Amino acid sequence: MSITELDSAGVTSAAPRDTDLAVQAEGLVKVFGEHRAVDGIDLAVRPGEIFGVLGPNGAGKTTTLRMLATLLRIDAGRASIFGVDVAGNPHVIRQLVGVTGQYASVDENLTARENLWLFGRLQGVASSRARRIAADLLGRFGLEEAADRPISQFSGGMRRRLDLAASLITRPPLIFLDEPTTGLDPRTRGQMWDTIRGLVAGGCTVLLTTQYLDEADQLADRIAVIDHGRKVAEGTPDELKTMVGNSTLQLLLDEPGEVPAAAEVVRRVLGAEPVLSPERGRLNVALEQADQAADVLIALRTAGVSISSVSVAKPSLDEVFLALTGHGTDEKETEDR
Ligand SMILES: Nc1ncnc2c1ncn2[C@@H]1O[C@H](COP(=O)(O)OP(=O)(O)OP(=O)(O)O)[C@@H](O)[C@H]1O
Ligand SMILES: [Mg+2]
Repeated sequence: MSITELDSAGVTSAAPRDTDLAVQAEGLVKVFGEHRAVDGIDLAVRPGEIFGVLGPNGAGKTTTLRMLATLLRIDAGRASIFGVDVAGNPHVIRQLVGVTGQYASVDENLTARENLWLFGRLQGVASSRARRIAADLLGRFGLEEAADRPISQFSGGMRRRLDLAASLITRPPLIFLDEPTTGLDPRTRGQMWDTIRGLVAGGCTVLLTTQYLDEADQLADRIAVIDHGRKVAEGTPDELKTMVGNSTLQLLLDEPGEVPAAAEVVRRVLGAEPVLSPERGRLNVALEQADQAADVLIALRTAGVSISSVSVAKPSLDEVFLALTGHGTDEKETEDR
């Protein structure tokens, strides 16, 4: 986005500067009735990075994006996009941000090509230019073959790609992706990840929300973890994971009665507190290094504790959440407790 383009729109004072953060939010608040859906969130997204907002259902991810995209009023706090104040310049913000919804927002009866053309026209792009851009995007997103079929015949993955393509028509420098891969199969998810990386390689900044630690891990340069409308942690994927250990050792014992003895061994070897499920003979513990698993297994054998299965897994979002918030990502379970 060049400053000249914005100047011609008569908004010189709001023109973005190269030195500005792509997104800067301070104390963002959204209240629905009595409920503070977003309760004082700060964000700083640097140009050219993929920034992930990670959180469980109802954490306030979509609400945050919608405020930043001018689709919802900001109740308190302030936000700017490339230095442009969001509340004061909604028309400029809409030129700077491409928004992809959690659900593909396209017309079922039109073809993919027609949908993209229509999106372009609705955003003021001239007809012939909209046609050219549509053809280019269909190619870039692997939708050429399906371009002239109605959307009603599209798979979930094709819809997501079309939805993302539609948000790129005006070539915005900043893209908001709301849970871009929820509900997609692993292969289609991988394709979407590649597409998102391609956008950033082409100079875009991406702010995405996700419920999946692995997605944030794969894609994001930095992550903000949010819960109940508040930011509970922020860092690179590695920083967040080392808060809970780089990996988790999961043990299933032959004899559930031996869980306390096994826990004692784990404490002695790792100096860490394991999570126990004695009734099921299970024991999980965070590892700083995956190879510490071997030390634990040898010590357990020496102590005469027999093991029926072992796995070393990356910490799940549940474990990160548990460590950061003291509760799991399953709200119902939390309330029951
Ligand atoms: N228009 C609205 N009116 C009232 N409450 C709302 C509205 N939109 C969202 N909420 C509430 O605000 C909270 C945050 O919702 P939000 O959609 O931002 O969560 P989310 O993190 O995007 O969740 P998900 O992962 O399920 O998409 C939820 O409790 C939700 O019920
Ligand atoms: Mg949401």
